[in-house]
Amino acid sequence: MAPPVTHAPHDEQLFVSTLPGLEPALEAEAAAQGWSPRRVDGGVELEGPAGLHQDANLRLRTASRVLLRVGRFRAGDSDTLTDQLAALDLSRVWDGRAPPKLSVSLHRSPVPGPDVVFDAAAYAWGLPAVERAGPLDDEGGGPGLTLLVRVEGDAFTVSADTSGEPLHRRGYRQEVSRAPLRETLAAGILRLVGYTGAEPLVDPMCGSGTFLVEGAWMAMRRAPGLLRAFAFETFPAFDAAAWAGRKARAEAEALPSPGAALHGYDINAGSLGTARRNARRAGVTLALERRDVRTLQAPVEGPGLVVANPPYGKRVGEAEDLPALYRALGNTLRSGFTGWRAAIILPDDATLVKALDLPGARSLPVRNGGLRCRLLLTGSGMT
Ligand SMILES: C[S@@+](CC[C@H](N)C(=O)[O-])C[C@H]1O[C@@H](n2cnc3c(N)ncnc32)[C@H](O)[C@@H]1O
Repeated sequence: MAPPVTHAPHDEQLFVSTLPGLEPALEAEAAAQGWSPRRVDGGVELEGPAGLHQDANLRLRTASRVLLRVGRFRAGDSDTLTDQLAALDLSRVWDGRAPPKLSVSLHRSPVPGPDVVFDAAAYAWGLPAVERAGPLDDEGGGPGLTLLVRVEGDAFTVSADTSGEPLHRRGYRQEVSRAPLRETLAAGILRLVGYTGAEPLVDPMCGSGTFLVEGAWMAMRRAPGLLRAFAFETFPAFDAAAWAGRKARAEAEALPSPGAALHGYDINAGSLGTARRNARRAGVTLALERRDVRTLQAPVEGPGLVVANPPYGKRVGEAEDLPALYRALGNTLRSGFTGWRAAIILPDDATLVKALDLPGARSLPVRNGGLRCRLLLTGSGMT
């Protein structure tokens, strides 16, 4: 007689990563989907039925990538490690043919170095060698299977990357202007400030239009993963019918247009062209106009939300003008957008925070492209 089944064999355990500082936004998003996220450093853990990884990739706007746990064990020496790796059931994610890439991270581990894991994995899986992948964060990935071995002390966690290309690559932003914001960071900021799509949204320095397209998709309840492919589509256990059903449901839930206006301005005409084409690819219409932030007024009656990612002064000749530009942005917010809320992401620099001068603003630490930044929020928003 077959032994009793003590757990649902297809239940999934996921680790969903996000950018530093966006863990609360990701947790809130996952909870709003009806899931029970557990917030941890760098992301959330999720558990659920088979296919949860498909929904997580399709629907979470602030996720960088979705990892599916395939095994956990403890090991002391390399022989045991080889046996443990050989005993893993990888059949859901690997057909045993094209060799997977392997990313290894060691934390407070007695394992002397990643080579021990690479060698043990090659031996265990009958490969001449495994292809080494760097750390998978909000970059890296790409086509083919990537397995991740995380070693914490003597505890090994093995996961498969289900996303492939990082999730900020939605598929609509095929051109960028200078210093574009990650789509995931833009979506996270909108969530942290409590944007629901019911109020007008203005970006006075919109560049390639990331805040506005992400805001439009949030307002339309359009899933962020509808335009792109994912690594899980190449897994042996890929359920194509279930995936088609999930995408069809997400398409059906999306509203045809955002409820409120989305206005973008920039001093650079080329950036506005980029924003317009990105918006077209995303299927949204934005009101875009060339304007200097120094003279901008609210285009519609408020209250509404102003979001901005002003220049950081990383380019030659830009740095000395920055305090004046930030003072001008602050003046515009106070005089031209009275009663509106604002969310401004700027470098963690006391001179610029002072120049912006937003009394009573809450300040949250975030990172943008590896740079320490502050997110200043005025009005009421979620923390
Ligand atoms: C960091 S970029 C914004 C990037 C944008 N968030 C994106 O995702 O593409 C800053 C933008 O501010 C614009 N800018 C600089 N000075 C300006 C001014 N005085 N008025 C309006 N826009 C200005 C630049 O042209 C640039 O597009």
